[in-house]
Amino acid sequence: MNQAQDGYCIVVVGAGPAGMAVANLFSKNGHRVIIINRDCKVGGLAEYGIFPSKHRLRTGLQKTYREILSRPNVFYFGNVSVGRDKELTVDELRGLGADAIVFATGAQGTKTIGVEGDDAVGVFHAKDVVYHYNQLPGFSERPFDFGQRVAVIGIGDVMIDIAHWLIRHKKVQEVIAVVRRGPAERKYNPKETHAVCSNIDKDALAREFTRIRERLEAVGQDPDQVHADMVGEFKKCDPAISGTMMRFRFLSSPRRMLVDAQNRVRALEVENTRLECKGDDTAAKGTETFDEIRCDSVIFAVGDRVDDTVGLPYKNGMFITNPTPSGNDPDDALFQVYDEGSGKPLDGVFVAGWARKASEGLVGIAKRDGEWCTEVVQRYLAIRQPQTNTRLGEIYRELKTLLESRQPDAVTREDLPLLAEAEREDAAKAGVEEFKYSTNDEMLAAIRRRRMLVSGAECAPA
Ligand SMILES: Cc1cc2nc3c(=O)[nH]c(=O)nc-3n(C[C@H](O)[C@H](O)[C@H](O)COP(=O)(O)OP(=O)(O)OC[C@H]3O[C@@H](n4cnc5c(N)ncnc54)[C@H](O)[C@@H]3O)c2cc1C
Ligand SMILES: NC(=O)c1ccc[n+]([C@@H]2O[C@H](COP(=O)([O-])OP(=O)(O)OC[C@H]3O[C@@H](n4cnc5c(N)ncnc54)[C@H](OP(=O)(O)O)[C@@H]3O)[C@@H](O)[C@H]2O)c1
Repeated sequence: MNQAQDGYCIVVVGAGPAGMAVANLFSKNGHRVIIINRDCKVGGLAEYGIFPSKHRLRTGLQKTYREILSRPNVFYFGNVSVGRDKELTVDELRGLGADAIVFATGAQGTKTIGVEGDDAVGVFHAKDVVYHYNQLPGFSERPFDFGQRVAVIGIGDVMIDIAHWLIRHKKVQEVIAVVRRGPAERKYNPKETHAVCSNIDKDALAREFTRIRERLEAVGQDPDQVHADMVGEFKKCDPAISGTMMRFRFLSSPRRMLVDAQNRVRALEVENTRLECKGDDTAAKGTETFDEIRCDSVIFAVGDRVDDTVGLPYKNGMFITNPTPSGNDPDDALFQVYDEGSGKPLDGVFVAGWARKASEGLVGIAKRDGEWCTEVVQRYLAIRQPQTNTRLGEIYRELKTLLESRQPDAVTREDLPLLAEAEREDAAKAGVEEFKYSTNDEMLAAIRRRRMLVSGAECAPA
C-alpha cells in the first residue's frame, strides 16, 4: 500500500466483523478510517446475533474492536444509518470525496419465500427474533407472541439458536423444525446442538425416519446410517430445564398459513417433497400432496437478503457487483459495486461481508471477507494520489457538520467506553455476567451521565 505521509481516507459503513476488519487493516497502515454504523454499539451480529450465552466469544470480539477504535486515525459515528430517507444517502457520502467507501452493512433485508399468508399474526422472521432476544433497540421491546407450538422453517444454525431460546428461555411446549429436504441435508454445526439435544424427542425422530425412509432410499441415502449419524451428534447435551419437545418434520415445504378468524396462525400447510439428485447435491421437488402441521406461530429461519433501501444497485436479494473481471486481479470485480444503467462499477464503492454474500458463514468468514475487500481496495488506490492532511480533516468536518443537523445523537468512539462502563456497572449491580441497555434512549442517557461524571471529575478541585 502507498505509505504516503498523509494517507487515504476510507469510509466504512457498518461496524460488524467485516467492516471492523476493513477498519483494522487500513488504520494499521496509517490511513484515516471513518466508520458509520446504524447501531450505537459496534459488532453487528457479533453483538446482536451471537447467542447471548456466548460471553467469551462476544467479549473477545469486543476487546479487539475496542483496540481498533482507540487508534488516533479511526473515527466513529454510531446511531447513524445510510440509506434512502436515512441520515445520509449514498450520494451524499460519495460527495464527501473519500478515497473509497466500503459497505459492510450485513444482510438486513428480510427474505420471504412466497408462502401464502406470511403476513398473518404469529409469523416471524428469524432475524427479528434474534435481534429481539439479543436486545437490539427497535426489536427488544416489540412483542413477540409465539404461543406454545412453534414451527421453525429451516435446519441451519439459526434454527438451532432459535430452538435454544424457545426451549431454555421461553420454555414453550413444542418446537417443530420444518425442513424442505431431508436429514442428510441438515446444515447446522453438530456442536451447536448441545443446548437443545436433551429436549429432542428421539422416539418421534425414529418415527420420522420411518415415514420418509423410501424417499431417502430413492436417492441412494441409507436412512439407518443417516439416523445413526444424526443421533450420534447429540453429545454433551446440557441437562434439560424445560419440558419442551423438539421434533423434526422432513421433506416438507411450507406452502400456506392456515389462520383463524382473527388472522392468527393455527397451522402451517406443507407440501410433501421428494429428493432429486442434482450433481453431488439434492433438490426438493413437490409431490402435490399436502399436510397440516398444527402450530401457534411460524418462524422463518431461511437466511436473509441485503437491505435494498440502502440505495446501492440491487437485484435478487443482493447488491449488484461487477460481472466482468477487472483490475489487477480477476476477483476484484466481486467486491466492486456495479451500476447496470451505466454498465460501469460505481467508482470507489465496494461491498464486503454479509452485504456481499448474505447469510454466509461465521464471524471468521466475514472478517476474512473484509480483509479480502481491503486488498481489493488497496489495488484500486495504488493508482490514486493520497489526500493531503488538510483534505482529510475537511472530509471529517463536512461529515460532522452534515450530521449535526440530522443526527445530533450520533455516538462517537469516545462515548463507547463510557457506555461499556455504564453497562458493566449495571451488570455488577444486578449480579449478572452481562447487561445491555435495550433502547437507544437508555444508551444515550447513560453516555450523557458518564460524560457529566467525567467532566465533573476534570473540574473537581485537586
Ligand atoms: C443468529 C445468528 C447467530 C450467529 N452466531 C454465530 C456464532 O455463534 N459464531 C460465529 O462465528 N458466527 C455467528 N454468526 C454469524 C456472524 O454473526 C456473521 O458471520 C457476521 O456477523 C457477519 O458480519 P458482517 O459484518 O458482514 O455483518 P453484520 O454483523 O450484520 O454487521 C453489519 C453492521 O452494519 C450496520 N448497518 C446495517 N445497515 C446499516 C446502514 N444502512 N447504515 C449504517 N450501518 C448499517 C449494522 O449496525 C451492523 O453493525 C451468527 C449469525 C446469526 C444470524
Ligand atoms: N452458532 C453459530 O455458530 C451460528 C448461529 C447462527 C448462524 N450461524 C451462521 O450464519 C449463517 C446463516 O445461517 P442460517 O441458519 O440462516 O442459514 P443456512 O445454514 O443456510 O440454513 C438455512 C436453512 O433454510 C432453508 N431454506 C432456505 N430457503 C428455503 C425455502 N425457500 N424453503 C424452505 N427452506 C428454505 C435451507 O434449506 P436448503 O438447505 O434446502 O436450502 C436451510 O435448511 C451460516 O453460515 C451459519 O453457520 C452460525
